[in-house]
Amino acid sequence: MALFTGKNLIQLPVIPSTNTFALDLLSAQPVEGTVVWALDQPQGRGQKGNTWISQSGTNLTFSVIYFPKFLKVDNLFALSKLTALAVLKTLKRCLPMQDVQIKWPNDLLINGQKVGGILIENQLERAMVKSAVIGIGLNVNQAEFPEELSSKATSMVAWADQPFDLFKVLEILWDELEAQYLQLKAGKVDHLNREYLAHLFGYQETVWVKIGDQTTQAMMVGVDKSGRVALEQGGKLNYYDIKEASILPEPWL
Ligand code: BTN
Repeated sequence: MALFTGKNLIQLPVIPSTNTFALDLLSAQPVEGTVVWALDQPQGRGQKGNTWISQSGTNLTFSVIYFPKFLKVDNLFALSKLTALAVLKTLKRCLPMQDVQIKWPNDLLINGQKVGGILIENQLERAMVKSAVIGIGLNVNQAEFPEELSSKATSMVAWADQPFDLFKVLEILWDELEAQYLQLKAGKVDHLNREYLAHLFGYQETVWVKIGDQTTQAMMVGVDKSGRVALEQGGKLNYYDIKEASILPEPWL
C-alpha cells in the first residue's frame, strides 16, 4: 500500500489533460503524491508533441505530483526510469504470464506492442529538480484500436480473460511508483539502472531504429545518464536523444 501517493486524489470525469491540470495545480502547493485522474482526457499530451488518444472510461490517464528536491538536474532521466519500472512491475503483477518490456526511453510493451506511455514534466530550480508531474497513460480495458494503431497498440485486457478494475490497477501503480521513488530518494541509483536495462527492449541486441526518416539497424549498447540511447553503427558509437531517434519493435512499425 502506498503511504502518500494517491492519498490526495483529484478525480474528475473529464479534463483536457491531467498533466496540464497538475502543472496548474503546482501554484496552489499540493501535497506530495497528489494524483489527478481523469476518466476522459480529450486532449492528452504525449512525447514529442504528439497527442495521447485514450478511449473514455476504459483506460487509465493520470498524473502524480512529486517533489524530488534531492535530485540533480543532470540525473533527471532517473525519474523516467523509475516510472517505467513501476508501470512494468504493475503489468507483471496483473499479467504474470506475459512478456512485458520497456522500449527506450519509457514506452511500455506487452509482447512487442505499446500498452502505455509516460510524459514527465519537471520544474527546475538551479541545478536541482523542484517538482515533477509524472503523467501515465495505460491502456487497460480498451478492446479495439483505430485502424492506424491496431498493429502497434495493445491493452491489458487483450491478454486477460476479463476486464480489470481500474481503481485496483491504479492502486498497484501508486504502490510500485512510490516504492521506486523512495529507492531513488535513498540513493539506490545503481539498482535502478540495472533493473531498467534488464527490462529494456533490444538492449545489447541489434535493433531497428528510425533516425530522421531513415530506418536502419544498429546495436543498442546502452542509455547514458541524460537518457540518450547509445547505438553502435559501423563500428562507431553514436548517442541520440528522443527527438532524434526511435526504436522500432518491428521494422514495419
Ligand atoms: C507517450 O507519448 O507515449 C506519452 C503519453 C503520456 C500520456 C499521459 S496520460 C496522463 C498524462 N496527461 C497527459 O496529457 N499526458 C499524460
